[in-house]
Amino acid sequence: NWKLTNYIDKTVEEIREKVGNQKVILGLSGGVDSSVAAVLIHKAIGDQLTCIFVDTGLLRKDEDVKVMQNYGEHFNMNIKLVDAKERFLSKLAGIDDPEAKRKIIGNEFIYVFDEESHKIEGAKFLAQGTIYPDVIESQSVNGPSAVIKSHHNVGGLPEDMEFELLEPLRELFKDEVRKVGEELGIPHHLVHRHPFPGPGLGIRILGAVDAEKVKILQEADDIFIEELYKNDLYDKVSQAFVVLLPVKSVGVMGDERTYEYTAVVRSANTIDFMTATWSRLPYEFLDTVSSRIINEVRGINRVAYDISSKPPATIEWE
Ligand code: XMP
Repeated sequence: NWKLTNYIDKTVEEIREKVGNQKVILGLSGGVDSSVAAVLIHKAIGDQLTCIFVDTGLLRKDEDVKVMQNYGEHFNMNIKLVDAKERFLSKLAGIDDPEAKRKIIGNEFIYVFDEESHKIEGAKFLAQGTIYPDVIESQSVNGPSAVIKSHHNVGGLPEDMEFELLEPLRELFKDEVRKVGEELGIPHHLVHRHPFPGPGLGIRILGAVDAEKVKILQEADDIFIEELYKNDLYDKVSQAFVVLLPVKSVGVMGDERTYEYTAVVRSANTIDFMTATWSRLPYEFLDTVSSRIINEVRGINRVAYDISSKPPATIEWE
């Protein structure tokens, strides 16, 4: 595709010109936008780019290992993996209000990122995977969407940082970002990942978050996502995940009575994420997911499927 190749060549040139022989840092989340931005910038300036990947402890199962493999090893990028799991969990201990959790996670992310970015000597530029819809959104100060979205994107960093911004995807729509990503050699499944909220599993564990619940949710969510891929359903839904309720119910396992948590399987179909319907996933498929979660994840003995549309429900549960 000559238009894409053109775009990439042109942008690579612009990045080289702007950056010169200076250093660039970038917060890599493993999501589509930051990953495509990272690979594009890396193509332009190689080891002058250092990515900072913060493991908040609220990411999906093995996300740290996968990011290091997919981008560190495969693309040979410099990635600083920051294990901040304890930090986030201790700050979140006992906090059950969704907005309070969001605030804590967002602030902590900025502290950690700020600290780490200062350890990279002589960094002059801060690169971000800002795309065109983000630019538009941040310009509309009025209207409910500005309020609703103000807490989104924990990756957004304060403007008072002393770095110069580098945002090579600023003019692109999401589907164009994906195409650029694929053209750069990022595998299909990585550029077509569902969106994942900044606060991560912190808002998919209802109420207070702790290490045990994170582990349980990661296992259950991983099974659901794996089954979606296996059954060719992942690309047919817009966003899919598991939610862990802090509610225990009675079950039976062998001849023992159990008293464990409830998992909710959520899958939404949407175009703009402002309205959504629940995915009409096949019963057989849901049966497999439910059996696997209950049999394989200790701590869950009941699975429910969320059949609420947005509005009036939201896609996430918090
Ligand atoms: P809701 O739950 O409002 O979600 O229907 C709409 C989309 O926004 C995502 N979302 C968030 N993303 N930080 C984010 O970065 C957040 O706090 C947050 N809350 C919701 C949600 O995953 C869905 O894609």
